[in-house]
Amino acid sequence: MTRRIGILTGGGDCPGLNAVIRAAVKTARGYGWEIIGIRDGFDGLRRVDTFRLSRERIKGILPQGGTILGSTNKCDPFCVRVGDQVEDQSDQVVENFKLEGLDALITIGGDGTQAIAWKFFQLGIPVVAVPKTIDNDLYATDITFGFDTAVETATLAIDKLHPTAESHERVMVVEVMGRGAGWIALHAGIAGGADVILIPEISFDLDHVCQAVQRRYDIGRDFAIVVVAEGARIRDDQLGPPGTGNPITGSRRTDRIGQYIQEKTGHDVRAMVLGHLQRGGSPTTFDRVLGSRLGAAAVRLVRDGQYGKMVAVRGNTLVPVDMAEVAGKVRTVDLDHDVVQTARDLGISFGDRPI
Ligand code: F6P
Repeated sequence: MTRRIGILTGGGDCPGLNAVIRAAVKTARGYGWEIIGIRDGFDGLRRVDTFRLSRERIKGILPQGGTILGSTNKCDPFCVRVGDQVEDQSDQVVENFKLEGLDALITIGGDGTQAIAWKFFQLGIPVVAVPKTIDNDLYATDITFGFDTAVETATLAIDKLHPTAESHERVMVVEVMGRGAGWIALHAGIAGGADVILIPEISFDLDHVCQAVQRRYDIGRDFAIVVVAEGARIRDDQLGPPGTGNPITGSRRTDRIGQYIQEKTGHDVRAMVLGHLQRGGSPTTFDRVLGSRLGAAAVRLVRDGQYGKMVAVRGNTLVPVDMAEVAGKVRTVDLDHDVVQTARDLGISFGDRPI
C-alpha cells in the first residue's frame, strides 16, 4: 500500500533540518511511500500549502542550513489571531490532513512545535516527532542536532575575538543564544577559552564577574573573554531598579554588562551579540549524521505504527519516547554535570562566587 507521510518543520530554523527531511524522503522511498512537504510548520496544514518531496526537491540539500520547507514560530492552530479575535482552527487542520490523504505526520521542532503536535496526536493525527533546537535543551533527549553547528560558530567567533582582546588589552563580552539553558555558552566558552561564562542556570553577581576579569590582569594576562547566554540571570538587579528582575534584555543588556565591567575595572570593554549567526551556516558533520539518523528513524517508527512518540538520543542509540513525557518540558544544564565542574576546574568563573 502506498502511504503518504506529511512532514513539517516548526519553530526557529536550525542547521541539520534539511538532513532530516532528506533522510525521511529517502527512507520512505525505500518502502515505496511518498513524503509530502508542508510549508511553514502547522500553518501549511491550516492553509493547505503542501508539495510532493520528489528526488529532485531534495537534491543537494544535505549541506544547506535552514529548511526547504520554511518554518514559523508564530503559528499555533489552536489559537490563531483573526483581527481582534483568537480562533481555534485545529479542526480545520485535522480535516485538511484527511483531505490531503495523509497517513501520518512527522513534526520536526522544538518544545513549542512538539506541544502542538502532541495535541494533534490526541485529536487523532498519527504523529511521530523529531526533536530540534540549537539550544540543546529538549527534554528526554541527550542531544539535539544543530547544537554542534551553533557551538562551532560561537567558538570560532570567540577565537576571532582573542587577537583583538589580546592586542588591545580589552575585555570582550560575547552574547550567545540560549534563552532558557546555557548549553551553547558552556560549551563554546570552554572550547573558546573563556574566563567567565554566564548561564541562565547560575545567577551571577556582576561584582564577582569584575573580580574574575581583574584577576586576569593581576596575573599579567591583560585581556579577558566573557561569554553570556542570552537568558543569563543577574542577581540583585544590578542593572535595573530593585525588584524588577532583569528589565534590560537583548543587546542592550549585554552592552550594559560591558559598561558595568568597564566602569568597575577601568579596562576597555567591547560587547557583541552573535545572535542568528549561530543558526546559520552549513551543518557540521555531526549534525548531518544525527539529522540523517533521526529522519530515517522517524520513518521507521511510522512503519512500525509507533505514533505519539519522539525519536530521542540516549547515549549513542535512538529510542522512541512518549511525546506526553516531553511536551512543555526543557532540559537545562545540570549543575552537577561534569562539564560545569570541568569549567570550574579550569578556573572559569560563573560569576556566582567571589574568587
Ligand atoms: O530556540 C532557538 C533560538 O535560537 C533561541 O536560542 C533564541 O532565543 C530564539 O530561538 C530566537 O528566536 P527568533 O528567531 O524568533 O528571534
